Amino acid sequence: MKIVSLINMKGGVAKTTLAVNIADYLYQRHGKKVLVIDVDPQFNATQCLMSGNEYIEYIKNNNDTILNVFDRNIRPSISFTEGLTESFPKNLEEIVPYKTNRGFYLLPGVLDLYKLEMASGEGREFRIKNYLTGLQETYDYVIIDTPPTPSIWMTSALLASEYYLIPVKPDPISLTGIDLLNGIIYEKMSNFGNKIKCAGIVLTVTEENTSVYKNAQKNLQESKVWKGKLFSKSLIKRTEIAKKQLEQKFILDIDDSRLKSNLTSIVKEFIERVGENDQ
Ligand SMILES: Nc1ncnc2c1ncn2[C@@H]1O[C@H](COP(=O)(O)OP(=O)(O)O)[C@@H](O)[C@H]1O
Ligand SMILES: [Mg+2]
Repeated sequence: MKIVSLINMKGGVAKTTLAVNIADYLYQRHGKKVLVIDVDPQFNATQCLMSGNEYIEYIKNNNDTILNVFDRNIRPSISFTEGLTESFPKNLEEIVPYKTNRGFYLLPGVLDLYKLEMASGEGREFRIKNYLTGLQETYDYVIIDTPPTPSIWMTSALLASEYYLIPVKPDPISLTGIDLLNGIIYEKMSNFGNKIKCAGIVLTVTEENTSVYKNAQKNLQESKVWKGKLFSKSLIKRTEIAKKQLEQKFILDIDDSRLKSNLTSIVKEFIERVGENDQ
């Protein structure tokens, strides 16, 4: 099982878009067993995979979310038949992800993660890692979509992952940000004595014939830090992607051969860089 976090300290760089579309492509075109974990309290990946009504039903019926991985506290709950009771946390191995309409699996995100962050909770950093330990045989790829803020959620995603993948927009300011990112990841992981590898950088929301894009490519290719890290194809800018996301549609559903062929190349390179399931 290969576990990869998509990470960037900036929001709006297509982390979520790339995460769900790589997952979708791995499942639809490569027949891989895929789980997406949505660790971002803004749960955009979940919104790409479940309609509002589906999500409300899902939560109402007490189905599992990322909250079950993090929240191990016993909490009082009120039941109509039994009055005030205590609800016990689930064991990690009892957590059941949602089978999406696309066919692959999702451990949905939830806004309540924000509340948890304020409560004390030592050792939460290893929860995702511990959760995934029991699932080695179940999935080929686990893709973790992370929030843009350095937080326990980001740390726990990194600690669970063998690789991180950086989506970045080609403008100069965004590019400076990723140099900082590498340092922060390195520092966070060495605090835990943990190692994680960079799977590469994917340029996103690109306009391929512009000088901004070409300069970004050149700078990354020539940079000592990022040598060999840049994916050869980028996620090109298409407003259709944003529109279709609201209807739980993916790049494979869009009639745009250039967009699809770039995704084909990105996923092929993703598999080459991250490797296949070695089980
Ligand atoms: N290639 C693209 N072309 C146009 N819009 C895009 C593209 N990729 C993402 N977007 C849009 O940009 C916004 C931010 O993308 P998102 O994936 O949510 O970024 P992040 O997860 O980094 O915050 C979303 O509205 C998304 O639909
Ligand atoms: Mg996001």
